[in-house]
Amino acid sequence: MKQLSNRQILLGVTGGIAAYKSAELIRRLKDAGADVRVVMTPAAQEFITPLTLQALSGNPVHTTLLDPEAEAGMGHIELARWADLILVAPASANFMARLAGGRGDDLLTTLCLATDAPIALAPAMNQAMWRDPATQSNVALLKQRHIHLFGPAAGEQACGDVGPGRMMEAEALASLAASLFKTRDLDGLSVVITAGPTREAIDPVRYISNHSSGKMGYALAQAAADAGAQVTLISGPTNLACPERVKRMDVISAQDMLAAATDTVVAADIFIACAAVADYRPAEFITQKIKKSTDTLQLELQRNPDIVSTVANHANRPFTVGFAAETQDLEHYAKDKMRRKNLNMIIANDVSDTSIGFNADQNRVVVFWPEGRTELAEMAKSQLARQLIAMLAKHYHQYAAAALDS
Ligand code: PMT
Repeated sequence: MKQLSNRQILLGVTGGIAAYKSAELIRRLKDAGADVRVVMTPAAQEFITPLTLQALSGNPVHTTLLDPEAEAGMGHIELARWADLILVAPASANFMARLAGGRGDDLLTTLCLATDAPIALAPAMNQAMWRDPATQSNVALLKQRHIHLFGPAAGEQACGDVGPGRMMEAEALASLAASLFKTRDLDGLSVVITAGPTREAIDPVRYISNHSSGKMGYALAQAAADAGAQVTLISGPTNLACPERVKRMDVISAQDMLAAATDTVVAADIFIACAAVADYRPAEFITQKIKKSTDTLQLELQRNPDIVSTVANHANRPFTVGFAAETQDLEHYAKDKMRRKNLNMIIANDVSDTSIGFNADQNRVVVFWPEGRTELAEMAKSQLARQLIAMLAKHYHQYAAAALDS
């Protein structure tokens, strides 16, 4: 079910005794890495409370079309656009009839009309209602409109009847939902990315830092999430918004960044060090603002820990990728860093050219790994990030396969 990683699933719950199974379904979808938002019809709320589904999904439950408070949070059109899939489970006979009739008389039917995402229904009803010609003609119409039908299963029903009409079990529904999505390069993998500069405090108002804007690292985080990874972005101070579906950990100094990296490293499959970490910090933090009493001022600096090297030498090391920002002898210095820091790959940029690299929207890189190299022409960082992630994924999968064989 790796294809569910990072997918946005809108779960519709309609009225029926099977509504209790929706709780389990939310857990299965979330365990597979999906973000789940729930919409309940009024009838569904007779069977299970919105509070239960809110607690399980971790998101507010939407119940009415004309609720100004909910619309202020995420309006119904926004919600319809948000969904990668609308899964209605259980789908009652009445809901299916209203959907087949093209009605938009409550939130859930309106969302189904307004979405471009695929829609899947898990019917649940009494066997006679399922067999009824009216329901069967609605089913045929819905299938014609490319709405997916998951089930129903057959067996003993809550009313005592035996036959078709039971909602499928949560596990089976989650795996059918997964099958609607194509697999992506990093489905289900955990990727940690460092980005931006670090700030090393001199006194309460001054610090040492550099020109990194975070743009390259944030673009990589977005591309990795789009490729299906669960992404943690360890970010130094930047003005950028957190990319969608990415968990951000904000840090200030190199020591903070090391602590965050150490916390995440064990669970990471891939670590990408894009941050421009300050190599040195003031040996001493002056607790009061330094006064301008002398013409010169000496600061003693102390070496910062090397974050990517620490990760790459960890007992449970992930596939570790570094960056090299160089102003001369790009290949020589990049390869040397890859060796010294024990990296699987290194991405080198020539930052003597100020139109790329630090704080620019464009970048041009050469990627090295022990057996080869490839050059990527100048392009927008967002586009470059997608190409880099595709390349890293290919190398990661070869590395993981080789590790399994040995
Ligand atoms: O943020 P932007 O404005 O978009 O700019 C992008 C960038 C130029 C910052 C980025 O493309 C880049 O080159 N990042 C690495 C910058 C850097 O510090 O390079 P370095 O050659 O000094 O370091 C080599 C590697 O060691 C890097 O992966 C760095 O993250 C890592 N490192 C360095 C020092 C340290 N104490 N700990 C580290 O982990």
